[in-house]
Amino acid sequence: MKKENIVLIKFGGSILSDKSKPFSLRVEVLKRLIEELIYFHGKMIIIHGGGSFGHPVANAFNYKSNRRFIDPQGIAHIHYAMRVFNNIIVKLLLNKGLNAISFEPMSYLCLENSKIKNAFLEGIRLSLKLGLIPVTFGDIALDEELGSAIISGDTLLKLLAIEMKVNKLVVCTDVDGVFIKENGNKKLVREINSSNIKSILELLKNEKQVTDNNKIDVTGGMYYKITELWEVAKKWIPVIIINGLVPNRLKNILLKKSNETQTIIKP
Ligand code: IPE
Repeated sequence: MKKENIVLIKFGGSILSDKSKPFSLRVEVLKRLIEELIYFHGKMIIIHGGGSFGHPVANAFNYKSNRRFIDPQGIAHIHYAMRVFNNIIVKLLLNKGLNAISFEPMSYLCLENSKIKNAFLEGIRLSLKLGLIPVTFGDIALDEELGSAIISGDTLLKLLAIEMKVNKLVVCTDVDGVFIKENGNKKLVREINSSNIKSILELLKNEKQVTDNNKIDVTGGMYYKITELWEVAKKWIPVIIINGLVPNRLKNILLKKSNETQTIIKP
């Protein structure tokens, strides 16, 4: 696959907001991450998660993944919460001279059983040509079978990384990368590749059951994220997972400076 010179950056909902408190924004973190983006002069696409906006509202309306969800009030309110979050982020990008425009998945995707059935990506493609920065986000979208379903930022990552032929994917989370337990101790996995992917997924699958009840996540944890990201890496698009809460890590990655504390996924 011939790559375009585009970097895809994902801000997990948990670094931009405090997932244990509905509608809480980590505005200082967000502002700093945007400052770090300014150092990069190439094309970029930004994706953000639902954080303390999408997840609590989905939960309040009793949304459950892979089940029929046809409550019009629920659909409208979940989508609205995401638009509020997205507007704040886009405004902060604009304030720093980054010409961000918003693309809501609800309008460019159609789902079937929670999977993407149709995607209209021409708008995103054209916006990149014009030097704009498309910003999209985890959202509720309409689903031919289920009525509606939440599409996570990680699923969008996979779609856009592959369709837009990006040459790098940077995932900013609130941890240093992917951790596994080894002899009872947590250990950072610096590289995930074809020789360890199976065992890592197996370990993450088991850890999935241990969740922090204060943190509401309706779209599925690290196991699911790595499964999706592995699909991207297999297309020879390097995926780098970093801790966005630590200053300059994003900037260094964008400036191609080496960074010890991260997980890189490559086949
Ligand atoms: C979820 O998006 C969107 C909604 C709950 C509507 P993500 O799954 O990408 O969100 P984070 O990154 O886990 O917060």
